[in-house]
Amino acid sequence: MCQPLCSSEVDTMRVLLIMKSAVLAVAIMTCAALLPGQSRSSHWYDHAVIYEIYPRSFQDTNGDGIGDLNGITERLDYLKQLGVDAIWITPFFPSPNVDFGYDVSDYMNVAPEYGTLKDWDRLVTEANKRGIRILVDFVLNHTSDQHPWFKESRSSRDNPKRDWYVWRSGGGPKQPPTHWTSIFGGYTWTWDNKTQQWYYHIFAPQQPDVNWANPALRKAMFDVVRFWLNHGASGFRLDATPYLFEDPAFPEDPNPPQAGAPAALEPYNSGRPENHEVLRQMRKILDGYPHDPVLLGESSTATIADLAKVYGANRDEIQLPMDFLFGNLTALNAGIFKKQVDAAELQLSGQTPVFFFSSHDHPRQWTTFGNGKNNDQIAKLTATLTLAQRGCVLLYYGEELGMGNMPAGELKLVPTGPKRPRADDRDGERTPMQWNDALNAGFSTGSPWLPVETGYKRYNVVTEQRNSSSIYSWYTQLLRLRHENPALRDGDYLPLESGNPDVLAFGRQASPTDVVLIVLNTSAKEQQADISGMPGQWQGSHRMLMASPAADAPRSQSFTVAPYGVFIAALQ
Ligand code: NOJ
Repeated sequence: MCQPLCSSEVDTMRVLLIMKSAVLAVAIMTCAALLPGQSRSSHWYDHAVIYEIYPRSFQDTNGDGIGDLNGITERLDYLKQLGVDAIWITPFFPSPNVDFGYDVSDYMNVAPEYGTLKDWDRLVTEANKRGIRILVDFVLNHTSDQHPWFKESRSSRDNPKRDWYVWRSGGGPKQPPTHWTSIFGGYTWTWDNKTQQWYYHIFAPQQPDVNWANPALRKAMFDVVRFWLNHGASGFRLDATPYLFEDPAFPEDPNPPQAGAPAALEPYNSGRPENHEVLRQMRKILDGYPHDPVLLGESSTATIADLAKVYGANRDEIQLPMDFLFGNLTALNAGIFKKQVDAAELQLSGQTPVFFFSSHDHPRQWTTFGNGKNNDQIAKLTATLTLAQRGCVLLYYGEELGMGNMPAGELKLVPTGPKRPRADDRDGERTPMQWNDALNAGFSTGSPWLPVETGYKRYNVVTEQRNSSSIYSWYTQLLRLRHENPALRDGDYLPLESGNPDVLAFGRQASPTDVVLIVLNTSAKEQQADISGMPGQWQGSHRMLMASPAADAPRSQSFTVAPYGVFIAALQ
């Protein structure tokens, strides 16, 4: 970006881009050209690709069927070759695993099934040697009910840690303080017989919410932040950030959610103004550490305006709030994609957007967007839709292979047991990484905690590395291009009109002469595009940087795009 823009300037600019491209071209002349490999942004995370690893399923090195930290260390060369800048590892701390690690019973240790603190230190050292940073998943809204803090808190009403959690009397054992619904179902309150009060939990009863208003709790949580920064973490993925505070009046819900409807993002339990102070304080701690550590927020919001606030009024809170308005999209629809990308670019005041589709909570995009016939081509299209954007992009392990979700019917048949204490609908997107076509896809020599997805014979690292038109090859080329091409790395976003509701077109621009055009056809039919909004004259000579299926570079602003076709062309 030349300069951050305020939203009214952005709106004006959008109109200019679309209606008065010649004028805009002059305006853009003020941006200095970037050299290959040179960056417009001063922060590594403003254009980072962060790869999410579910450690239980990535690589097992001791044959117990559960992935471990040593497994991640073993695969760092793979990650380097793929071209990611950082990894985010989901919780690997001691936990009763009611919610697979998102119920932490000791924040400053490694669960035995994942290894030791020594293994963590080795992982950091080896990752740093390869220029890869590591983000720790910080579960700050709640602990496990087995955490010593909660055990103390529930031991008596006058225990010094009583106020570290949210306790209320309500109307006795039969009447909770409110009838708010928890995200995991049921009320947000559980009755504690011993001390005759209710405790609050936005998730499962075994995940009591901590009380961030309590200074001692706050200090203890900030000690956790320092602990991991001192152990080489490059920042945190912050879990469930909207829910840190509740309305202190605990009002009744005027519109209780219908059965089965999402319970999240209610004004009384999410996005409370008190959140900002906590996040500012946390950011201040990070800012005291070298090498630009970052906060990546699980910051679901109901609107883009709410998302804009998560960065902080003075950009002093979360640097990278995940855009769930984009990440929750499930329809392969050019118009819907355009609306959300434009919103992220034009309504966040130039702050760094965070794009993703898949995660340990979101079904895998190969399955979500695939039509059963063209999934591989569609996977290349959705990869390009995220990785060609300005900002930060999150990839989920195996996304680069086209790993699919285990179908719900198959998942139902998978037994629980000591390695899988609970069945979770989200396990369909948490199956073992597919390294090769051998036993257990190379994930483990033992019996895996969750079976490998059946597509592994075709969709695995070794097989796809041999095939230049595989999904993996598309991702690696795209990641390389994103690092090397100044326009794709952090050039400005150009919202374009394609003249066709099935075709999404946008540009990225590092200088008046360094512009790339990205075009995606989200339909099963060949489509005609007629692009408007490119700055300056449409020039005759273009160079195709990547295209699937193979295609010639467009010669004018009118051209055809193959069914589910995708390309990136340089205007020169
Ligand atoms: C968000 C995490 O991504 C999800 O997996 C977890 O269940 C909840 N937070 C509760 O921690």
